[in-house]
Amino acid sequence: MMNTKIKTLLTLGASIACLQSLQAQTQVNSLKSAYQEDFLIGTALGTEHILERNEKANQLIKKEFNAITPENIMKSQLIHPEVNRYNFNLSDKFVDYGLKNQMYIVGHTLVWHSQLPSFVHKISSADSLRIFMKEHIKTVMGRYAGKINSWDVVNEALNEDGTYRKSIFFNKLGDSYIKEAFELAAQVDPKAELYYNDYNIEQPAKRKGAIALIKKLQESGVKINGVGIQGHWSINSNNLKDIEDSILEFSQMGLKVAFTELDLTVLPNPWDLRGADVNQRFQEDPKMNPYKDSLPDSVQTALANRYSELFKLFLKHKDKISRITFWGVDDRHSWLNGFPIPNRTNYPLLFDRALEPKRAYQSLMSLKESK
Ligand code: G3I
Repeated sequence: MMNTKIKTLLTLGASIACLQSLQAQTQVNSLKSAYQEDFLIGTALGTEHILERNEKANQLIKKEFNAITPENIMKSQLIHPEVNRYNFNLSDKFVDYGLKNQMYIVGHTLVWHSQLPSFVHKISSADSLRIFMKEHIKTVMGRYAGKINSWDVVNEALNEDGTYRKSIFFNKLGDSYIKEAFELAAQVDPKAELYYNDYNIEQPAKRKGAIALIKKLQESGVKINGVGIQGHWSINSNNLKDIEDSILEFSQMGLKVAFTELDLTVLPNPWDLRGADVNQRFQEDPKMNPYKDSLPDSVQTALANRYSELFKLFLKHKDKISRITFWGVDDRHSWLNGFPIPNRTNYPLLFDRALEPKRAYQSLMSLKESK
């Protein structure tokens, strides 16, 4: 539909060139174009997006985002279900989608303790586990060498206090599995950017652990390009200083900083309740799912304000930040509808269940318009 500005110009007999330029301006009205001088704007794709099942979602993804991460389909349980069997059906389509739309493609994730195929849990010797890890990296990363721009090489290797997570990899191989994974990744695709990715590493104790882990890699001469701060936060998180300190400290180590899985829960968190355990009784408690039918105006505004505060900080440090990726396309798709309590209605992203932009989206666009 022709906008009012264009109609007025037409009646004034404006030149075609002028009209074309206005039309172009309306078309660049998207997150990726608004932030194109600052950092990449990404999203995580589910199977339905990779298969382009919903045309409205597909158009939205192509219009708003210039980076994509596979939310689940490249996790080892799905891509490598049996010892010598890989399933590349969806990952091939994911990579093709990124290539045909000229998007920055992120691989997620090569070495992660979670979502492992069942055969890995049966491995008893360190040597066999090392063989699994190496074959996995060679096969998966090798297949997409030159096509995937960046990999989350190791995911979530730390505990909240900054010590190493006692994962199957750590228990059998010690912390040297991290070095071995990065070393091999650098050989398999020398052009790919290599990241360490974790949640809560903006928090001081865990950040200290991440800095020590990465320093050790750097001191041993292993290539690592960046750190991924996941960014699973809440509208009530009071962590801007921690985030800013993290951006500064990581970038002083020569690392690029990416926010790799950004979302902001608007729902009560059972872990915030003093003395509360996450247990069955929360599932039946309507207090834990307060916005089942719609999001109150005040919370919609709180979400917009929180996103705006975060992006003001990201813009302040845009020279240190490579990418901001949202963990999902729209609220319906978000994993936060099922975690930490199943079957809730959460609203953590910029697009609503009808794939329409929310106030939070407008707040991020207006940060750039007011410049
Ligand atoms: O596909 C199966 C389906 O066939 C089955 O019926 C159903 C029953 O449980 O499960 C489906 O798989 C689920 C999968 O998501 C796809 O929806 C898994 O149970 C569920 O555990 C899985 O959750 C994912 C989670 O990682 C664990 O891998 C979330 O979607 C995904 O958003 C989340 O993403 C992680 C990042 O990879 C790493 N950082 C934290 C982040 C949030 O947990």
